Amino acid sequence: MKYTFPENFWWGSAASGPQTEGAADVDGRKPSIWDYWYTKEPGRFFNGVGPANTSNFYYQYKEDIALMKETGHNSFRTSIQWSRLIPDGIGEVNPKAVDFYNRVIDEMIAQGVTPFMNLYHFDMPMSMQEKGGFESREVIDAYATFAETCFKLFGDRVKHWFTFNEPIVPVEAGYLYDMHYPNVVDFKRAVQVAFGTTLAHAKAVKAYHGLKQDGKIGIILNLTPSYPRSQNEADLRAAHLADLIFNRSFLDPVTLGEFPKDLVELLREKNFLPEYTEEDLVTIKENIIDILGVNYYQPRRVKAKEYMPHPDAPFVPEHLFDNYEMPYRKMNPYRGWEIYEKAIYDIAINIRDNYNNMPFFISENGMGVEGEDHYRNHEGYIEDTYRIDFIKSHLQWLHKAISEGSNCQGYHLWTFMDCWSWANAYKNRYGLVEVNLDDNYKRTVKASGKWYKTLASENGFEA
Ligand code: BG6
Repeated sequence: MKYTFPENFWWGSAASGPQTEGAADVDGRKPSIWDYWYTKEPGRFFNGVGPANTSNFYYQYKEDIALMKETGHNSFRTSIQWSRLIPDGIGEVNPKAVDFYNRVIDEMIAQGVTPFMNLYHFDMPMSMQEKGGFESREVIDAYATFAETCFKLFGDRVKHWFTFNEPIVPVEAGYLYDMHYPNVVDFKRAVQVAFGTTLAHAKAVKAYHGLKQDGKIGIILNLTPSYPRSQNEADLRAAHLADLIFNRSFLDPVTLGEFPKDLVELLREKNFLPEYTEEDLVTIKENIIDILGVNYYQPRRVKAKEYMPHPDAPFVPEHLFDNYEMPYRKMNPYRGWEIYEKAIYDIAINIRDNYNNMPFFISENGMGVEGEDHYRNHEGYIEDTYRIDFIKSHLQWLHKAISEGSNCQGYHLWTFMDCWSWANAYKNRYGLVEVNLDDNYKRTVKASGKWYKTLASENGFEA
């Protein structure tokens, strides 16, 4: 069967500034929380590889954009690093950063690759973290000013903007589970950070719409459906609570303008409501997005709690449900994530039925694999058929959703070229293009990159 996608479908990939640019302390950029954390605890980064050099995009962007074209991209997302553009978080704009991002944007447009720009990819400038991150009103306003600065500088050419990538990740990784700096474990503070991020987002949307630049603004959310273990009432309730916390906490306010009532009740009951004003709620209500980006990697499976949590343990969402390891599930063993393709269909149908069928696209989906060298063929490139199969099997479900009326406008893979992945550094490779760290960041297109070109030029594939 031939799977053909709608006309003008976006085929491309996503990356982020901090994970690809490198040049961390070059041309006036100042540290983000990642640079700072690495100086304090390098042992928490895989193989001790930190954020300083990443994949050298800062210097090789022209070659990279040519490779985007070669691998069929009609669009590509990256992010503007706040700590590069406004190194102190507030105040002076760095002219060298303006020059760099101008060159990247212009080159992409010249090569026929539409730039999608994100404004925050887990990368709080350290100076802003010192002021309290998104717990602080000053930082929320500084972010909105940074966003508006970007719109004014680049909005004549960039017509697809995104305020945040996976805003729940810094909340859970930084304030609940000790995975990212600032390594706080405190649910009440996590809720405050989530609220502050939502408000910062809404202020950026307001600024963008106010400028009337004739483009679209959205946010990128990692939506992982919460599948209950069974139809037992207790399992269904567990899944509902997980869904409220991990999906709807951001999805509802950015698309519908309001937080889910059940979530507000839950937080009130446990005395975790954040500090806010009525004016904040109005700002959130009045500034909803034009387009949604959905990152999907793995499903969340949930069951009712088996044991009571220790009464002295700090509250975490898992006090309300247990994560469920479904027997015989298909796994990506390198990343430790389940592969469940149908979820992409379920997400699309949920948006169609419960979120006014708003325009969205898959903004990340992908497979991180360790030791890809093992798959190098005699012609010297990586024969990553597993990645091609992974993409196809997800696209089949996406195609079904579109044929049933879902308003999906594109598919972006994570990622274009192998990049630095936070604490996992270069352990798992996701790219259509290999980056050889032992040979001057040499780029080599993988089998998936060649296949992606055909996929895009045929606007679909045969399976
Ligand atoms: C997404 C992020 O969560 O997943 C990316 O937006 C990240 O920044 C990607 O790199 C893959 O996850 P990981 O943890 O393997 O890097």
